[in-house]
Amino acid sequence: MKHHIRDIRLSGKGKLRIEWAEENMPVLRLIRERFSKEKPLRGVKISCCLHVTTESAALMMTLKAGGADCVLCASNPLSTQDDVAASLVKDYKIPVFAIKGEDDKTYYRHINAALDHEPNITMDDGADLVSTIHSKRRNLVKGILAGTEETTTGVIRLKSLEKKGLLLFPVIAVNDANTKHMFDNRYGTGQSTVDGIIRATNELIAGSNFVVAGYGWCGKGAAQRAKGMGANVIVTEIDPLCAIEAVMDGFRVMPMREAARIGDIFVTVTGDCNVLRAEHFKLMKDGVIICNSGHFNVEIDIPALDRMSRKKRKMREFVEEYTMKDGRRINLLGEGRLINLAAAEGHPAQVMDMSFANQALSAEFVKLNSNRLSNKVYAVPKDIDEKIAALKLRSMKIAIDTLTAEQKEYLSSWELGT
Ligand code: ADE
Repeated sequence: MKHHIRDIRLSGKGKLRIEWAEENMPVLRLIRERFSKEKPLRGVKISCCLHVTTESAALMMTLKAGGADCVLCASNPLSTQDDVAASLVKDYKIPVFAIKGEDDKTYYRHINAALDHEPNITMDDGADLVSTIHSKRRNLVKGILAGTEETTTGVIRLKSLEKKGLLLFPVIAVNDANTKHMFDNRYGTGQSTVDGIIRATNELIAGSNFVVAGYGWCGKGAAQRAKGMGANVIVTEIDPLCAIEAVMDGFRVMPMREAARIGDIFVTVTGDCNVLRAEHFKLMKDGVIICNSGHFNVEIDIPALDRMSRKKRKMREFVEEYTMKDGRRINLLGEGRLINLAAAEGHPAQVMDMSFANQALSAEFVKLNSNRLSNKVYAVPKDIDEKIAALKLRSMKIAIDTLTAEQKEYLSSWELGT
């Protein structure tokens, strides 16, 4: 299988949309210019498992410009942009294995096709490459220098492997870089989640009771954006610290069993399973909207919804209406998969610029330093994170102050007191 995509004839549209995204990815463009000259990834085979979007296309082209031999498969069955997949294959000669709406069997067939590339570096968004290698394709480990991981859920899975002493190669936790999670997770997920809900439903956010489950970086973003559009936002949490943050950010905080009776729109962004479940479905009002923006489709107990309903209708492209036995209707968006990529286009290029700059520079770091790494989860080196922040700010044409010699001295001294 050299590639497996929906339709190569979609490439024209994809090419233009990739160009549009790249316009807002100046940091990645700078990295690509340097990579083109220096070829730091020459001879490196990279298997990427990412959402197949215009922004990921820009990353693939950057890695290729650096001399890498790349293949790409989807990191979610519903997030692929088929026109982008077509353009990557036709215009940029990058093999892609991804079709929007593929079933789970095809999804894993595509993961395995990407692994047939025998990568030196794995680039994951959710750790499906790493977990497939660890469970089924251990023969590949000897050729692997390291992996990189894009998302919170993936990093959690990897840290669990590491803790149990089972991790077979080093992995860089790109998600944990400040220039990634502070912007991508917060502003990216915030905007694209609300965007996905609106595109799927065309519902009015203003005046709605908008329940956000989880007040991590993604939850903070979704709550902030919904508030900005005039929603009455309710936050549910299990962590006292995050709950206090939500309260002091001006949100109502309560258990889901209380929020379930009030909410009009529910979004889960916790990274854990069955956050919305039977006990909550029983309490919900007629006509509510429920969706997930966490990485995996585990946050809503869909089998319970199936069991509790007597009828199911597809109302719009990403809206499934479940009629409960008592007649109430619950509308599930995007099959419980991440709504920001299922019904919208994922995070805007401006934030993916920093996320994928971290990916590109982490790949270069791995190539140069793999012999010094052991089988652990590593942070992105601080100098890379800081360089990306500085480049991004410069690209935004925003200047900031610098410390005077006296201020530097003051900050490094301990003698001065009251
Ligand atoms: N994850 C969230 N948004 C994304 C995007 N636009 N491209 C790739 N991965 C993403």
